[in-house]
Amino acid sequence: TSILGNANLANASLGIHNGAGSYIENIETAAMRAGELCNQMLTYAGHGRFNLEAVNLNQLITDMTRLLELTVSKKTVFKYHLTDHLPLAHADPSQIRQALMNLVINAAEAIGDTSGLITINTGMMRAERHYLTETYLAPDLPEGDYLYIEVSDNGSGMNNAVKNRIFDPFFSTKFTGRGLGLAAVLGIVRSHHGALKVYSELNRGSTFKLLLPLENEPKSGERRAIENQNAQLSGTILIADDEESVAAVTARMVEALGFKAVITENGRRCVEAFKENPADFALVLLDLSMPEMGGEETFRELRLIDPAARVILTSGFNEEDASHRFSGKGLTGFLQKPYNLKELRALISQAIDS
Ligand SMILES: Nc1ncnc2c1ncn2[C@@H]1O[C@H](COP(=O)(O)OP(=O)(O)O)[C@@H](O)[C@H]1O
Ligand SMILES: [Mg+2]
Repeated sequence: TSILGNANLANASLGIHNGAGSYIENIETAAMRAGELCNQMLTYAGHGRFNLEAVNLNQLITDMTRLLELTVSKKTVFKYHLTDHLPLAHADPSQIRQALMNLVINAAEAIGDTSGLITINTGMMRAERHYLTETYLAPDLPEGDYLYIEVSDNGSGMNNAVKNRIFDPFFSTKFTGRGLGLAAVLGIVRSHHGALKVYSELNRGSTFKLLLPLENEPKSGERRAIENQNAQLSGTILIADDEESVAAVTARMVEALGFKAVITENGRRCVEAFKENPADFALVLLDLSMPEMGGEETFRELRLIDPAARVILTSGFNEEDASHRFSGKGLTGFLQKPYNLKELRALISQAIDS
């Protein structure tokens, strides 16, 4: 099912290029990528609970070099500049490995079949306000020292139109791309209270720089304020989606917004989880078409348990069709797939306020 589902997803994102023959190709590619996907899912085990610990980034990278080299073509050369005596990072090592892997795969794909160079740097830097405002996620982070991991390639680079959309789930310029790699990286960095900087020049290459907080840094008033601010957005969101990769990326997005995520793979499981303690969930994100128990029936059941339950429906069908079926039934919102982080954030904050 997962392989077929991914073939479907790939299909959907292929759009106009999609001929009859490409269908089988999609399935094959999905199967080939199953390993990568499994990996992505595995880091997800524990439903997005992060285990933050003191991490030696240089060691983490050194331990991965063989794996990274196996991942890319033989014509690609790796260069490492790992700054000595680096302080420890406050991070979840498996999440950082996943982020690094996604960035290196992209770098390798940007280089393609020609010979190329991927550089991985680590270091510590002082990030001032003006620097932070130009990063993703970080405009509100405190100024100060950050550790960084930087992945550079001399591959295809990106134009601005592409660069503006790279973090949108399902956005891909690749024939067989799933567009989930950078969405996952963004979620990971956000959960670390880190930042992400992207430089890219068409036909020259790209650099992705992850900024991560140091371990044991005394908490400044500023940082505490940010944590409080995130606490206001705290709460758990229950996700029901039978498509694993969609559920996982949705969970990452939800976490990026400051919530905890609980994933259920069908309507029945969703109702069971909700029933246990309805007050635990600030919101339910419900996929319309699922086996076992579809969105419509699930919605009814949830409302029976708690008439005030906030439910946002997500669907690949167009909104008119779907919301028509739910009109007057107290649906909190509707989200058309594929959606991006901005759309999700807007709808969730609207729902939570209501
Ligand atoms: N290192 C890079 N060089 C050039 N383009 C990149 C790079 N990394 C990401 N991109 C662009 O961002 C898009 C989204 O990346 P990602 O989320 O990993 O999805 P996918 O790799 O499946 O396409 C890619 O399709 C590509 O256009
Ligand atoms: Mg990718």
